[in-house]
Amino acid sequence: MVRDWPIIVVGSGIAGLCTALAAAPRPVLLLSRRRDGVGSASMLAQGGIAAAMDNADTIEAHVADTMRAGAGHNDSHCVQLLATIAPASIHWLQAQGVAFDNDGDGNLQLGREGGHGVARIVHAGGDATGLRVTTMLAAAVAAATHIEWRSDVEVDGLIRRGGRIAGVHVDNGGSSQTLLGSDVVLATGGIGALFPSTTNPPGANGAGLALALAAGAASRDLEFVQFHPTALDVGAGSLPLVTEALRGAGARLRDGTGRLVMADAHPLGDLAPRDIVARRVWQARRETGAVTLDASGLAIDWPRMFPTVLAACLQHGIDPRWMPIPVTTAAHFHMGGLQTDDIGRTSIPGLHAAGEIACSGVHGANRLASNSLLECVVFGRRLGAYLGKQPAASSHASNDAVAALELVMCGPCLDHEAMQLLRDAMGHAAGPIRTAKGLREASETLAPLAGRGWQARLGQSILACAYRRQASIGAHWRTDEVITSSSAATTAA
Ligand code: SIN
Repeated sequence: MVRDWPIIVVGSGIAGLCTALAAAPRPVLLLSRRRDGVGSASMLAQGGIAAAMDNADTIEAHVADTMRAGAGHNDSHCVQLLATIAPASIHWLQAQGVAFDNDGDGNLQLGREGGHGVARIVHAGGDATGLRVTTMLAAAVAAATHIEWRSDVEVDGLIRRGGRIAGVHVDNGGSSQTLLGSDVVLATGGIGALFPSTTNPPGANGAGLALALAAGAASRDLEFVQFHPTALDVGAGSLPLVTEALRGAGARLRDGTGRLVMADAHPLGDLAPRDIVARRVWQARRETGAVTLDASGLAIDWPRMFPTVLAACLQHGIDPRWMPIPVTTAAHFHMGGLQTDDIGRTSIPGLHAAGEIACSGVHGANRLASNSLLECVVFGRRLGAYLGKQPAASSHASNDAVAALELVMCGPCLDHEAMQLLRDAMGHAAGPIRTAKGLREASETLAPLAGRGWQARLGQSILACAYRRQASIGAHWRTDEVITSSSAATTAA
């Protein structure tokens, strides 16, 4: 059966929820795998939301820190938008009912994270910020009369009509359906599940990105993958995050010999930009066998400030109040993705993107801490507001309306064994430290898998971009780099 909707949003993390809410009163069909944001990376986010809320802070300083972390590879117009709209976004979230942590006198408590020159991060429930914000927005969406929310749905195809994307194909657990929409928004998150270890949820496998690429959408900066230096070192796959805010509260990284990992490595020490800390941790683990984050003995109100980290550690028999926490690097955030403009439009009319899947260039070569939930709110709401103002049935107002409907799908998924091969290859070659040789070999490993599953083709695209970019910049670090002035500046930062 075919049904027609003005706007279809795929994904119920903060970007999808904000887009859907802001599109009012135009009707929205929101599709997600699970209910209430469960399974989204937003829900797991511990870091908070960056905004220049303090009198002593400025939009310009937030812009400068974002550009510095991004190694200047950022789209400066989008960065300016992000930082300028940030304070109003915090106020909007408060109006939705999000209670950000305060000092008891009603003043926001501002935390500090890597790459920020000042304390600028607002939290809700300490490190449970993503959970609190997602839950509140999900309740607002559930109450919104212009939104119909269907969960337990897998979007496995895009509908193309003429030169436009005109809907999606869904699998509702056995039965399939075509849903037509004048505007389709992908807010399906990142690609961490293509790597051996990640802080992302298992569903963050790049399926939305692969689908849009199969439909011919342009991509940007696919090689820029951020690795978090401190995932809890308890195996492989989706690992609990140990938030950077803990280093903001004084925790220190030590290698297997007890030496401070960031000693003499950067003027900001343990709070250096994330790419720099991740490379040091990656190297220290190889050289000394282990890295720990020592927060023991700090005067921290653990249950109030870090309930998520505390619970994850205790679940694995580690009491961080008295013991060092074993940590490892893990794929954390994809700066690259579907090329979008400052509203969220992709290169294909009718197809839009918000959140981690989108690449407007706002994060440059390395995202500044706590700018990702901010991006979801700022650009999700911008996109929703734009779509909300579009004339009804815009996809039907052109010659495309008479063109035949065409279904674009990605084809089969890799089986379990092939996924293991892919993750190992991506981890070895496209991790925090890369070489041309490693990238070439990984590409050769994936070549025979390309016909067996879309994940291998997506992996190949990422490897090819990483191979082509010979200079180190931001999170893309080539030890065999061809030195350019911009990479030299990054190295010196
Ligand atoms: C963290 O809490 O360390 C992560 C924050 C972020 O990714 O922005």
